[in-house]
Amino acid sequence: MATRVRWLGHAALLLESDGRNVLIDPFLTGNPKAAVQAGEVPADLILISHGHGDHVGDAVAIARRTGATLATNYEISLWLQQPAQGLDGDHVQGLQHGGSFLFDGAVRVKLTLAFHGSMLPDGSNGGNPCGLVMTFPDGVKVYDAADTALFGDMALIGEEGLDLAILPIGDYYTMGPDDAVRAVKLLKPRFVLPIHYNTFPPIVQDADAWAARVKNETSAQPVVLQPGDWFEIPKK
Ligand code: NI
Ligand code: MN
Repeated sequence: MATRVRWLGHAALLLESDGRNVLIDPFLTGNPKAAVQAGEVPADLILISHGHGDHVGDAVAIARRTGATLATNYEISLWLQQPAQGLDGDHVQGLQHGGSFLFDGAVRVKLTLAFHGSMLPDGSNGGNPCGLVMTFPDGVKVYDAADTALFGDMALIGEEGLDLAILPIGDYYTMGPDDAVRAVKLLKPRFVLPIHYNTFPPIVQDADAWAARVKNETSAQPVVLQPGDWFEIPKK
């Protein structure tokens, strides 16, 4: 069964593969571009890239409702188990950069570097921000850079052979369109999906203009989605 991705608005994504739903950075309540409501989105595995409110979002409530496993960095994994959040440690995986785990014998998730902040909404220490490399049962490999600046070691991540890279293009809080094109050149993915733009005034961008640059200047195929749209990732 194919792997497909649905942009839920801002940095929220749903990846579906072989009947498993992987929900990333589910900021839905209060997200002016949210394509679904927190009370209805499916999740078997929830990934949180860093501690900021526009990424942790509704993760705790969705985990409670669905019984999904949560994977994130070690510091956020401890925070999720504090009384205020109250998640069961059996459902929380606390990884660190370079570390991976295999979910349900089927989806491998590895944390990568990201250059950003990670303080949690209540001011707690959220550890270091992360990107995510996911390998799905059909062999499709996806890199979600999450919130980050451009960095040269994206070339190392690209060596893994990426089918899809998901990159912020919003500028202001993350890399902007120019650096995101440079990121595509380092990552060399087959397809690239821009996110983290047009949610709020400081991050308004022209995604179609960016996609035209990707087409002209890189070997990757840009995929511009509207919040709510799906993209099925073609196998090689
Ligand atoms: Ni952030
Ligand atoms: Mn963000």
